Amino acid sequence: MYRYDEYDQRLVDERVAQFSDQTRRYLAGELSEDEFRPLRLQNGLYIQRHAPMLRIAVPYGLFSSAQLRKLAHIARHYDRGYGHFTTRQNIQFNWPALEKVPEILAQLATVQMHAIQTSGNCIRNITSDPYAGVAADELIDPRPWCEILRQWSSFHPEFAHLPRKFKFAVNGAEEDRAVIQAHDIGLDVVKNAAGEVGFRVLVGGGLGRTPIIGEEIAAFVPWQHIVTYCESILRVYNLHGRRDNKYKARIKILVKALGIEEFRRQVEAEWTFHKDGPSTLTAAEVARVAAHFVDPAYETLPATDVGYASLLAENKPFAAWVKRNVRAHKVPGYASVTVSLKKTGVPPGDITESQMDLLADLADAYSYGEVRATHQQNLVLADVRQSDLFKVWQTLRDAGLATPNIGLLTDIISCPGGDYCGLANAKSIPIANAIQERFDNLDYLYDIGEIELNISGCMNACGHHHVGHIGVLGVDKNGEEWYQVTIGGDQGNKAAIGKVIGPSFAAHEMPDVVTRLIETYLANRHEDERFVDTVRRIGIEPFKAHVYGNRQTEKKVAHA
Ligand code: HEM
Ligand code: SF4
Repeated sequence: MYRYDEYDQRLVDERVAQFSDQTRRYLAGELSEDEFRPLRLQNGLYIQRHAPMLRIAVPYGLFSSAQLRKLAHIARHYDRGYGHFTTRQNIQFNWPALEKVPEILAQLATVQMHAIQTSGNCIRNITSDPYAGVAADELIDPRPWCEILRQWSSFHPEFAHLPRKFKFAVNGAEEDRAVIQAHDIGLDVVKNAAGEVGFRVLVGGGLGRTPIIGEEIAAFVPWQHIVTYCESILRVYNLHGRRDNKYKARIKILVKALGIEEFRRQVEAEWTFHKDGPSTLTAAEVARVAAHFVDPAYETLPATDVGYASLLAENKPFAAWVKRNVRAHKVPGYASVTVSLKKTGVPPGDITESQMDLLADLADAYSYGEVRATHQQNLVLADVRQSDLFKVWQTLRDAGLATPNIGLLTDIISCPGGDYCGLANAKSIPIANAIQERFDNLDYLYDIGEIELNISGCMNACGHHHVGHIGVLGVDKNGEEWYQVTIGGDQGNKAAIGKVIGPSFAAHEMPDVVTRLIETYLANRHEDERFVDTVRRIGIEPFKAHVYGNRQTEKKVAHA
């Protein structure tokens, strides 16, 4: 993975010193609340419902065992013993004391981590495929490109005060695992007919208040020009994006208002000024960065390890975990393990300090010291030998990290909602937990098959509810917490925004609502058809009828 050079380290160290002084002055009353706010936000520090919340960047979700150990240390000494992985592959701490934040940032800097640009109207952490570099369906490793974009966008003075936040996602595989269509700029690293590397560029996607699927602005931008091309997009946005209304400020609104053709025309016009300019990439620069992402020293192993194969045959729970949580690897004899942070009853994405330490140890022993965060709020050990999978499983299982539910109904994405977030309309975590409890039966879960259930506590959509096969959105009705349900949303190659099925529900109804959606699916599905494909085929009406039909009857009975 990428290691800081002296410039990176100095930038981060200097920022820690600067923010320490800013915090000292704020606490001494020399800076007002209003003066301090932009300074703390530049360092990922929000003030939330109960306490400050610190968001730490994990560039494209890739981090080391040493970094994870440091996060465990922070959870233990500065927070309440846990951290929360987000849909943006970052980690958040919900309870740091404000006066300790400079110290936390200083600790992070010792392991090449920071919270810069994790908030504010700038280019945020760039997200990518958690299986980058190891996926069997990968065409081009996106990580060097993510790192090039990270270096370009970090502290970029021209893009420090955009109309609104700006999110990049990069994918290099056949299957899009980075939801590139729901980002301000989505990049697909591709090869053209001549075998040259370039980028398919999407623009204007985003969730939140106005969810929009991104559109293609360029089918192929040669790699040398990707930075200048993105610069051109950002310049057009910076000039013409709305600054008068925060809710209409994202690039998606500008692209929609102009239309993709006109937006493309403006970007291309801008591009003529600085295509081939100083930000043009050279082969030497790409090679410098790519050198950090060479394969580890994989051993030559048989495609199937004999011991592993017999353990699989003998041990049902192990086989179930392998089926759900272990993925094929590009190198024979290896596999990628997805560590489930979705045990029933635990807030999705939460991990304790001792679990972090344990995972760091596992990463060192079995996965070249690396860990990845997924946007589904799980973690990945990407390079495990098949022969080690049984030991890894046993250790994870004993720590509550081996729930065999990846991609299933209980692998819920959920924002922190009303338990932590000051913007929430409703709680998210208890809804996630109630649904997990209702479906806490592996045989039933396996029968239901692949499905994504995503929950957000308000229309900001931090829990990606629009692109969930089932989406749940917290809404406020006269001061009470209600939940609106969408179905048919999808992420990945066929990304789609879900459709609302009707009036919202009270919290206690949610497990029943999900049960009825599932019943409708099971009654209508064709063999091997996923929930979302059934919704696509038969539409939302049968689902609606089953959910609300029962509900009406209940009401009538209640009123009788
Ligand atoms: C203190 C807690 C948080 C606050 C105040 C917050 C605030 C917001 C706001 C205001 C938006 C809408 C932005 C817009 O449309 O312009 C947003 C979007 C988003 N946030 Fe959060 N957020 C928080 C926590 C989280 C967490 C925990 C996650 C992940 C679980 C997350 C991931 C996202 C994502 C994925 C989006 C949608 C991106 C898009 O609109 O394209 N946020 N957040
Ligand atoms: S979706 Fe709303 S409630 Fe949930 S974290 Fe985002 S801003 Fe908070």
